[in-house]
Amino acid sequence: MSLLQIKDLEVRFAASGSGMFGLNKRWVKAVNGVSLNLAAGETLGLVGESGSGKSSLGRAILHLNPISAGQVLFDGIDMARGSTIDIARLRHETAMIFQDPYAALNPRHTVGETLAEVLRVQRKVAPQQIARRVDELLELVGLRPELAVRKPGSLSGGQCQRVGIARALAVEPRLIIADECVAALDVSIQGQIINLLLELQQRMNLAILFIAHDLAIVRRLCDRVAVMYLGKIVEEGPVEAVFTSPRHPYTAALIQAIPEIDPHRPLPTEPLPGEPPSPLNLPTGCAFHPRCRYAQTLCSVVLPPTRFLHEHRYSCVLEEPLLQPTPAILEQPPL
Ligand SMILES: Nc1ncnc2c1ncn2[C@@H]1O[C@H](COP(=O)(O)OP(=O)(O)O)[C@@H](O)[C@H]1O
Ligand code: SF4
Ligand SMILES: [Mg+2]
Repeated sequence: MSLLQIKDLEVRFAASGSGMFGLNKRWVKAVNGVSLNLAAGETLGLVGESGSGKSSLGRAILHLNPISAGQVLFDGIDMARGSTIDIARLRHETAMIFQDPYAALNPRHTVGETLAEVLRVQRKVAPQQIARRVDELLELVGLRPELAVRKPGSLSGGQCQRVGIARALAVEPRLIIADECVAALDVSIQGQIINLLLELQQRMNLAILFIAHDLAIVRRLCDRVAVMYLGKIVEEGPVEAVFTSPRHPYTAALIQAIPEIDPHRPLPTEPLPGEPPSPLNLPTGCAFHPRCRYAQTLCSVVLPPTRFLHEHRYSCVLEEPLLQPTPAILEQPPL
């Protein structure tokens, strides 16, 4: 059984400025019927343009966002309907790593105080063991224990993100949700943090949901990848299958934008022409149709079927493999 099972999950927010007192209230469907599984020790990449709902999905899994419909099962237990004890267990077995390492840490607390506080709340070690465990955690993420007396403001971005990872590991989690956790770092530091996550994941059999818009990093770090567009997963499968043979035109365009000449160059954040439509006003049929070069008349009318190829699935009317994506995909203006 998968460690994490997400079934038909929906997350919606009241749009700002929409009718007060419930009149004419408009909703943003940030997550619009997502189903995904994550096994123990597995790394799943979640990619898609800004606004596609990645953070809302990640936060809903940890119950940091309200769930409007669907289920999130952790170890087979539905957390939305779980008892207080189950929710407490979820808190003890999951952790999040955030994008901005400085904003995620309390600037007034030393690194040691921040880590000690998690250990105290989690009660995973005896009070007299806390100081030693703080040192161990710092060493685990490649930091000198002397750093424990420093405050976040005196650390580099890379050091801060290592502290963020140490804090996540203090919980001894089985699942980590990392939301754009290397996006704010220099490329060389990104590589170090990715290597650290890979090493820790193998050593601790961690399941990681790795949210990123950089596909090159996802290819290096993840076992599987899910591609999100306007609240839905449009394609999902083993990294190699999806990267070498993308089936959904959106995935193909994202992959096409990975710079091949210099694998260390970060991806442009807007790899496709035009903006995704507003989730307040979702296009009918396939939500990608206004930007899809393969769109057929049918695409604007009906939801595309989900097709399965072994462990690889995608939602599109196209049955045949896409031709090798060409630069033309990117040059097409929105229809
Ligand atoms: N707390 C919120 N209140 C209202 N709308 C939100 C909230 N959080 C996210 N959204 C909206 O939900 C959509 C998805 O956002 P988000 O999950 O942050 O996407 P991503 O992480 O892929 O950039 C966006 O349209 C965003 O404006
Ligand atoms: S269903 Fe149609 S519009 Fe949507 S991705 Fe496939 S071809 Fe393009
Ligand atoms: Mg986000």
